[in-house]
Amino acid sequence: MVSKICCIGAGYVGGPSMAVMADSSPGVDIEVVDVDQQRIDAWNNLNGASLPIYEPGLQQVLDRVRGHNLHFSTDVAGAIRRADMVFLSVNTPTKHRGHGAGSAADLTFIEKAARQIADSAQGATIVVERSTLPVRTADGLRRILDCSTNARFEILSNPEFMAEGTAIDDLQNPDRVLVGGQCDATVNALAGIYANWVPSSRIITTNLWSAELAKLTANAFLAQRISSINAIAGICEATGADVEEVRRAIGADRRIGAEFLKPGPGFGGSCFKKDLLNLIYLAEHYGLDEVARYWRMVLDLNGWSQKRISQMIVKALFGTLRDKRIAVLGFAFKADTNDTRESPAIGICRDLLHDGASLSIHDPRVDDGAMRSLLSMSDDGLPAVGGFEKAASVETACDGADAVLILTDWHQYKQLDWADLASRMRQPGWVFDARRGTNLAEAESHGLDTWQIGRGGMN
Ligand code: NAD
Ligand code: UGA
Repeated sequence: MVSKICCIGAGYVGGPSMAVMADSSPGVDIEVVDVDQQRIDAWNNLNGASLPIYEPGLQQVLDRVRGHNLHFSTDVAGAIRRADMVFLSVNTPTKHRGHGAGSAADLTFIEKAARQIADSAQGATIVVERSTLPVRTADGLRRILDCSTNARFEILSNPEFMAEGTAIDDLQNPDRVLVGGQCDATVNALAGIYANWVPSSRIITTNLWSAELAKLTANAFLAQRISSINAIAGICEATGADVEEVRRAIGADRRIGAEFLKPGPGFGGSCFKKDLLNLIYLAEHYGLDEVARYWRMVLDLNGWSQKRISQMIVKALFGTLRDKRIAVLGFAFKADTNDTRESPAIGICRDLLHDGASLSIHDPRVDDGAMRSLLSMSDDGLPAVGGFEKAASVETACDGADAVLILTDWHQYKQLDWADLASRMRQPGWVFDARRGTNLAEAESHGLDTWQIGRGGMN
């Protein structure tokens, strides 16, 4: 019977997922620990800090459980010592140096956390992989954990499938929960906790390796859908077809399904790229070169989806962006999050700056500091050429702008007042809509030229 849980890593996964678990499992006491004191202070709302991540519905769940059966602290060793079950929710970025750089997962944080568990755990302890990991990581974990003299371990793989922006709903009503392990009793111990709020038909149990691989596979398939629809968007623009109509037509086929077919400026977020790279590395490692090339194309297409937007803007604005002002609407990688990791906006804005543009960037949740740290340098490591500022409102972003570029699918960008915005812009003005989110007919009626992703035959 598990009564004390420790979660190592208080990030986008650790924080919300433990909050939802605590909310539905009053008999379990959960300590979420992190090495980052500032992050923990923010989770505790100390010194006026707001939560470290923006996620709709998160604050309400936290209000019910924080200080009751959910606690945030930096006491990593103490929380491990007290726990029957330790969740590993640390970050697993792509390696930047050494062997496998550019594609293999950097397991430094996992290894460090495993050593902390080996040092501090007491008695029978279940270690649960929550981070997304290369297949067979559990082998490496076991070797480290076996060095412990005070504890014995079972390892489970329980990858998380939530998406940012919808995390609370995804966690409260998951399509499925996956628990992989080698010992039935241990698998059942974790499945039993999820059974507090997830119907048993949605709790899937597998062996360890299938669970590890299923997570990478799910992200690869989702990323592939976006690259596929973005490829079709390009064909639509060239041929006069409309990707919205194509999407509706193919999505009505149950074998394809209607979800995750929205065209855009390419996928961002912390996981798709790194998890695809992870899968590619795995395929190469096992000598499956064609398989590796197949998945690499999904990434290459994503690079194309981003690059073509800046190239098209330069072309439309007479071949140069010098002394031109562009209002960029949205910097987060998707709506309803403050996360900018791998956001398509980063590369696109860097390209526009490189061409000398002056950018006025609006985003309802991304702060000035995050934009500054991502845009001060260009891709080649040199200081950016053009200038940029964070705009307090959409209206100020558009003041004097030669073009408006919509990059994130924030709800408020669906209701733009084009009469007002067009009057603030310099003529001839352009609207580039990379999200199919605004009423372009209205923008056109106020004299603006327009481009919309996947809409053919416009120019
Ligand atoms: P994150 O960077 O937001 O959080 C990770 C946290 O772990 C950081 O706060 C870091 O300080 C902490 N940490 C690292 N090493 C530590 C240690 N030894 N002791 C204590 N704390 C430590 O990352 P994230 O977005 O929460 O992702 C975590 C994992 O979950 C990744 O493997 C990711 O692929 C996976 N995942 C993420 C999402 C998502 O939507 N972000 C969804 C599903 C799965
Ligand atoms: C994604 C997966 O959806 C989650 O299931 C998974 O758990 C998570 O990665 C992870 O492993 O981290 P996330 O990256 O948070 O979640 O967000 P998504 O909703 O998947 O969006 C990813 C990117 O794809 C965004 O840039 C989004 O704008 C783009 N996207 C998504 C599209 O361009 N079109 C779509 O139809 C859907």
